[in-house]
Amino acid sequence: MTIENQPPASVAVDLPGWRHSYSGKVRDLYLPDAPSTADNVVSDTDAAVQSAPSNRILVVASDRVSAFDHVLEPGIPGKGELLTTLSLWWFDQLVDVPNHLVPDHAIANGTAASLIPEAVAGRAMLCKTLDMFPIECVVRGYLTGSGWKEYQASQTVCGIPLPAGLQNGDRLPEPIYTPAWKAPMGEHDENISFERTVELVGADAAAALRDASLSIFNTASTIAEKAGVILADTKFEFGVDPETGVITLGDEVLTSDSSRYWDAAAWQNGTTPTERMASFDKQIVRDWLAANWDQTGTPPLLPAHIVEQTAARYRELLERLTSA
Ligand SMILES: Nc1ncnc2c1ncn2[C@@H]1O[C@H](COP(=O)(O)OP(=O)(O)O)[C@@H](O)[C@H]1O
Ligand SMILES: [Mg+2]
Repeated sequence: MTIENQPPASVAVDLPGWRHSYSGKVRDLYLPDAPSTADNVVSDTDAAVQSAPSNRILVVASDRVSAFDHVLEPGIPGKGELLTTLSLWWFDQLVDVPNHLVPDHAIANGTAASLIPEAVAGRAMLCKTLDMFPIECVVRGYLTGSGWKEYQASQTVCGIPLPAGLQNGDRLPEPIYTPAWKAPMGEHDENISFERTVELVGADAAAALRDASLSIFNTASTIAEKAGVILADTKFEFGVDPETGVITLGDEVLTSDSSRYWDAAAWQNGTTPTERMASFDKQIVRDWLAANWDQTGTPPLLPAHIVEQTAARYRELLERLTSA
């Protein structure tokens, strides 16, 4: 673990009914303080002193932004709320899809509203606590980023052979599942083969993660296309619900942090890779950082115009998707 990768120490705030348990690069997790049973939550009318059942977790999205596995300064104002709103919207879209395959961890009802402290309202999700798999379930529908680099060298992406003649930004013949091992804080996630995921989580779970990831990706792509948006790639995280043993979709889903989104019209009509991949995600941050930092030591401060552009693009994606 390296010091510079740690989020600022000030991230943990006092939330009535909750205690801080973990801070990732972008999100802060809280567990119930003095957990209560599910029954007495509903009968308690004083929201300020209510405690959630012990199997709940509060996932709070901050305005922190990370790129190349580093948390950058300053944050993107409003980002935490935008990402939480988008995640919840996606969970909602996916819940009724027959081939969705797995349930999700979000609890979005009246009880949730009353258990989320005012201080983090809008950027917190009340969830079932899962035993997370140490696997980032990446699905790619298009060729770009690190995949494009590898393709140019070996005509593969994460070891998966692809047809010759593809260009940066091209659609793949079909979406591919390219899992990564979720490295502990401060280390880089590592691409792994499907066989390696079998070794890590067992054959049944490995297949379930792959199938659910591809299925959710396909469903989400169709929904995004209706909004004139291309879902180029994304990352899911799953866990096991310890009460039921059921594999459950966790984390954030299909946000601009966990996905690459492009404008479909620009992709269709653009003539250069830059024009084709007009993005609604943090590519703006990645591009600026790649051009202004050699990836050693502490990353430089993001300039105000990069912060503003990123915030505007995150807002635009949410508006496009949710108003389609
Ligand atoms: N329902 C859940 N139960 C337990 N852990 C979860 C759940 N959903 C997400 N997580 C974990 O919460 C963390 C979210 O914080 P994040 O900022 O993304 O951290 P990281 O830098 O570890 O990716 C992740 O480690 C993710 O695996
Ligand atoms: Mg994460």
